[in-house]
Amino acid sequence: MSFTPRVFSGIQPSGDLHLGNYLGAMRRFVPLQDSHDCLYCVVDMHAITVWQTPEDLRRTTLELTASYLAAGIDPKKSILFNQSQVHQHAELAWVFNCVARIGWMTRMTQFKDKAGKNSENVSLGLLAYPSLMAADILLYKATHVPVGDDQKQHLELTRDIAQKFNNDFADSIASNGFDKEYFPVTEPLIAGPATRVMSLRDGSKKMSKSDPSDQSRIVLTDDADTIAKKIKKAKSDAEPLPTELDGLKGRPEADNLVGIYAALSGKSKQDVLDAFGGQGFGAFKPALAELAVTELAPMADEIRRYLADPTEIEAVLRDGAERASVIAAETMGQVRDIIGFVR
Ligand code: TYM
Repeated sequence: MSFTPRVFSGIQPSGDLHLGNYLGAMRRFVPLQDSHDCLYCVVDMHAITVWQTPEDLRRTTLELTASYLAAGIDPKKSILFNQSQVHQHAELAWVFNCVARIGWMTRMTQFKDKAGKNSENVSLGLLAYPSLMAADILLYKATHVPVGDDQKQHLELTRDIAQKFNNDFADSIASNGFDKEYFPVTEPLIAGPATRVMSLRDGSKKMSKSDPSDQSRIVLTDDADTIAKKIKKAKSDAEPLPTELDGLKGRPEADNLVGIYAALSGKSKQDVLDAFGGQGFGAFKPALAELAVTELAPMADEIRRYLADPTEIEAVLRDGAERASVIAAETMGQVRDIIGFVR
């Protein structure tokens, strides 16, 4: 069966949104609004898999929504909402907890990284996290999911869950009159020069919200001065930039900064090397800083403008949740029948 193309993606409201989230995900969400039905979600239920104070969660939910709006997500074109307002996410996640196997969850690298040596002592939610993520996507039968590279394994698991559900319930799916591919096998959209933005302090580590060093990341609310300083201080090397992509091999910091420039300017890494190959970081960093400030600083102003009126942001989320609920309720009703829940 062919599914209507539909895009779903989510970002956690935990900590400040950084350049990796923006270039690897959010910025790529914007043009998809013109070609697809899109749902963009503030995944607050995912955020509580690790401790968040209620005040922080509320603040970061509003900030992330303001960032979506400032980045160009249009709540009239797309459905923009927070996960906890659509209760079917939790409901379908429970069903998927009973479809997925514990071994599928314990082999997730993000779980292993986050749990570390402490795996008996983290929340049960952290282990079941990918099952909720599969529910986010499949509740809307989304066919395409734009994400950064670090979500690849979770999306493979989403495909496994969809396939196992379709198999386990094949007879019931058929007797209820649905096509045998009840849930779609979702395509990840992982593309562009910045699918994995690295720390500005260490080119071997991913830029992340949890890095203890503020200097390792640019956050979307940084002002122009801070952005420029962080780029000028970013770790680099002593060689001039190469003229060909091959020359970036074994130079993770150079590769990262070139990738950031490419993503911010909407060009390829080779285009950037065509312009800057042969020049050193003394010339490249100021150009990158200027580009980053031009692209990011107006967004920071826009985020602050939205945050000045939280009632407008809350209204956007409520409206989005209402529209999402219509689709979610339809899927969940069908899933109940397929499973055999009496209603
Ligand atoms: P989260 O909140 O950690 O990150 C949000 C998005 O940003 C991308 N990203 C990066 N991209 C490039 N370089 C980086 N350094 C970098 N760091 C983060 C992530 O790949 C992601 O696309 N589990 C998800 C949220 C989620 C979700 C979903 C996503 C929940 N349900 C359904 C898609 C569909 C997460 O924790 O993303």
